[in-house]
Amino acid sequence: MIELSGITKTFNSGLSNQFTAVADVTLTVNPRQITVFKGPSGSGKTSLLTMIGCMARPTSGRIFLHDIAAAVPFQQEGADSLEITSLPERFLNEIRRSTFGFVFQQFNLIKGISVLENVMLPAYPTGEGRTDFRGRAEGLLEQFNIARHAGQRVELLSGGELQRVAIARALINNPAIIIADEPTAHLDSKLSQEFMEIVGRLKGEGKSVLIASHDPIVYDSPLIDTLVEMRDGAVIASRSCR
Ligand SMILES: Nc1ncnc2c1ncn2[C@@H]1O[C@H](COP(=O)(O)OP(=O)(O)O)[C@@H](O)[C@H]1O
Ligand SMILES: [Mg+2]
Repeated sequence: MIELSGITKTFNSGLSNQFTAVADVTLTVNPRQITVFKGPSGSGKTSLLTMIGCMARPTSGRIFLHDIAAAVPFQQEGADSLEITSLPERFLNEIRRSTFGFVFQQFNLIKGISVLENVMLPAYPTGEGRTDFRGRAEGLLEQFNIARHAGQRVELLSGGELQRVAIARALINNPAIIIADEPTAHLDSKLSQEFMEIVGRLKGEGKSVLIASHDPIVYDSPLIDTLVEMRDGAVIASRSCR
């Protein structure tokens, strides 16, 4: 479970262009569920997910990771929750790698290197042996039906294939939580549906999936468990879809 308590993110604090992108958000995200953050562009979805995923710190408020804390190597024995907002940078990096997988709107794949290398990239800093994560990367490509493209550069792939490479890369470190930011923005409806089916499978494997989207194929999907609506940086509604 992820617990957000009074999370605020203010950019350019104290300057004339000061802007509060996330305003006092208190929310609980249930584990092993699909949670969709819906809201118009500029409502703070990306800012919020960025803070949950340990890529940015809130200006104020606290974020707790419950239950999954055991997976974090430096965690004190017996402690079952982790307050990520107060942790030093090096710990945040470690949690980000071990606990989160990210799928971005533009997929953010690296051109000029192979599909397989792209999938392996997030595993290099973990210190795990290359042979081990290479095997896992090949398994993921197999699972997503793109093994035949393993040696190709990403620029040769279709949109649907790129999407599956991006998902495979998000899964390489076997994260408990997947964060997807507008994952269907560059996909046609069929591929968007396909994305949701993959997300459903990931949930079936026990993963927590958090998606920011203003695409009805995502937020109206029968697969989602919780819909969080955002407006002007605030959560205006959060409801269970079950
Ligand atoms: N680094 C930044 N500096 C200043 N303003 C920002 C920054 N990042 C985001 N914002 C502003 O915060 C608001 C919320 O942005 P964002 O979280 O990206 O919303 P969404 O993902 O819902 O479109 C937007 O108005 C955006 O311009
Ligand atoms: Mg966004």
